[in-house]
Amino acid sequence: MTMMRAVVQTAYGDPQRVLELREVERPTASHGEVVVRVHATSVHADVWHVVTGLPYVLRWMGAGAKRPTPAIPGIDFAGEVHATGPGVREIGVGDRVFGESHRGLQWKNGATFAEFATVPASILAKIPVNVDFATAAAVPTAGYIALANLRGEATVQPGHHVLINGAAGGVGTIALQLVKAQGAAVTAVDRADKLPPLRQLGADHLIDYQREDVTRSASRFDLIFDVASTLRLADCRRILSERGRFVVIGHDHYGSQGRRLLGSIPSMMGLMLRSLFDRHLPKPILDMPPKAEVMRELAARLADGSLTPLVHAKYPLSRVHEAMRALQSGDGVGKILLVP
Ligand SMILES: NC(=O)c1ccc[n+]([C@@H]2O[C@H](COP(=O)([O-])OP(=O)(O)OC[C@H]3O[C@@H](n4cnc5c(N)ncnc54)[C@H](OP(=O)(O)O)[C@@H]3O)[C@@H](O)[C@H]2O)c1
Repeated sequence: MTMMRAVVQTAYGDPQRVLELREVERPTASHGEVVVRVHATSVHADVWHVVTGLPYVLRWMGAGAKRPTPAIPGIDFAGEVHATGPGVREIGVGDRVFGESHRGLQWKNGATFAEFATVPASILAKIPVNVDFATAAAVPTAGYIALANLRGEATVQPGHHVLINGAAGGVGTIALQLVKAQGAAVTAVDRADKLPPLRQLGADHLIDYQREDVTRSASRFDLIFDVASTLRLADCRRILSERGRFVVIGHDHYGSQGRRLLGSIPSMMGLMLRSLFDRHLPKPILDMPPKAEVMRELAARLADGSLTPLVHAKYPLSRVHEAMRALQSGDGVGKILLVP
């Protein structure tokens, strides 16, 4: 049996208590899969949700009713193909690839907090030659969420004025760059100490949420992209343009917001229902974009330099507890990575 090191989640609960570094059996590739030697994997809010098992509903949505399945956390990664299973043609051993490790929603362990991970070949993209593993690993889940929510009626046009609330987080820093690339002006809202790097990413106006209430702004926005999920539509109406859209990503702030049973699902469902008669709420797009397509688009943006994700800190697998603490502290701008 060939072994590898991996972070194993023993139960749902406090990340400091339920995560352990162990020697486990190295995975193999079945039909249509590849085994990736993981060079970097990201720590993000959805990883926190699955490790803590909160909100409870995620356990019945595929994460595992009694215990997390698989037991190794992690969803997105960048690495090198180590082996290919039968039926894999487009990707070969030695290719540098990135993406998410499972096809479905992010509320499920994807076993990337390990030296090797098995991934369906059809949802991967190749990493551009000018992009390193750490940069690539900072993109998949956050980039997917940003792109998936900037479509349909929330599509940004050149000349639009966009407000990004929570712009310094994993999703916000990517959304900011995607929106700037569309030719929009951006007002970025976050904590004062996190604002300067946002100017470098292209933000035109900066607001410290602890000092200024953006809903009292004199500006009018064509899109409010509320990553932090702390704004209320009722307050935002006065700063939305006539056809301005209000998009909420749904952030539980590591358990301090949202309900323990259902999280932000009820409020998100409420917004979806209200979108049927409220012009500021975009109609929900029920089909999520295919992951491979999104990864290829993100790869193209990494290659042409229009997307440069920020990496705040890197930890070896053995320091996963520190990485999870850093995530929850919210200090620093950009992604936190594990580098096996
Ligand atoms: N990043 C990912 O890869 C990822 C993956 C899966 C899901 N998601 C989902 O996407 C959402 C956002 O994730 P994220 O990673 O971007 O979160 P994040 O890194 O925690 O960023 C949120 C940002 O909002 C700021 N903020 C807090 N309160 C605010 C307020 N009242 N007004 C304005 N800004 C405020 C936070 O600053 P403070 O430090 O002051 O709190 C932080 O900088 C979450 O729902 C998460 O579940 C993200």
